[in-house]
Amino acid sequence: MTSDYQAFLSAALRRPAVIGAVAPSSTGLSDLLAAVTPTTGQPVVVELGPGTGSVSAAIQRRLPTSGRHVAIEIDAAMVTHLHAAHPSLEVAHGDAADLTAVLDGRGIRQADAVVSGLPWSLFRYERQRLILDGVAALLAPGGAFTTFAYRHAGFLAGARGFHRLLHGMFDEVIVSHTVWRNMPPARIYVCRRPLVNLPPAPDFQPTAGVSGLGQAW
Ligand SMILES: C[S@@+](CC[C@H](N)C(=O)[O-])C[C@H]1O[C@@H](n2cnc3c(N)ncnc32)[C@H](O)[C@@H]1O
Repeated sequence: MTSDYQAFLSAALRRPAVIGAVAPSSTGLSDLLAAVTPTTGQPVVVELGPGTGSVSAAIQRRLPTSGRHVAIEIDAAMVTHLHAAHPSLEVAHGDAADLTAVLDGRGIRQADAVVSGLPWSLFRYERQRLILDGVAALLAPGGAFTTFAYRHAGFLAGARGFHRLLHGMFDEVIVSHTVWRNMPPARIYVCRRPLVNLPPAPDFQPTAGVSGLGQAW
């Protein structure tokens, strides 16, 4: 089996506009993202963009055996790698923009935590909004959403727009310290209490199925 790093790099070289990074998240960043995973009860955790599974492993370290963890990944090679490297992980090959439909098919209507590894700064506003609408609708009362942003990409329009969007969509948005021991250094957002009565998202058609994915959004 190829190592996580090899599998990640090969996917990143093949589809840079989809993977959006050159290396998996470090253990430090993964643990920070996964810290919203409840450690008791029967929690449901949904992960978006697991890649080779570094954040998945951090979620699984916290998740009680009675919990459920579903990871939605768009890249077929990453999905194959995840099946081999993390056989106990429930992986859905799909698009986070189809979040509600993918989870409906698995009987999930609510999640206690949503943990994202998605490359938000590569997405246009409509796609960011569509995915976040799905996250907001999915979160259980008291649930939390975490995601990360690379520090160096903070000046990009997509990253700035995403920052504004999070603040517009959640009542509480906490930005962490920078995790310097990550390649590249990154910060995480912890978001709680989605706000209601936002203006509707502009019309946006998610791609049909997963086969045609891979274009820049
Ligand atoms: C920056 S990598 C992060 C991977 C992993 N979470 C980590 O931190 O090491 C982004 C991941 O999101 C996946 N991805 C990108 N767009 C996606 C989408 N619309 N739906 C699901 N996964 C997506 C990519 O294939 C890639 O595996």
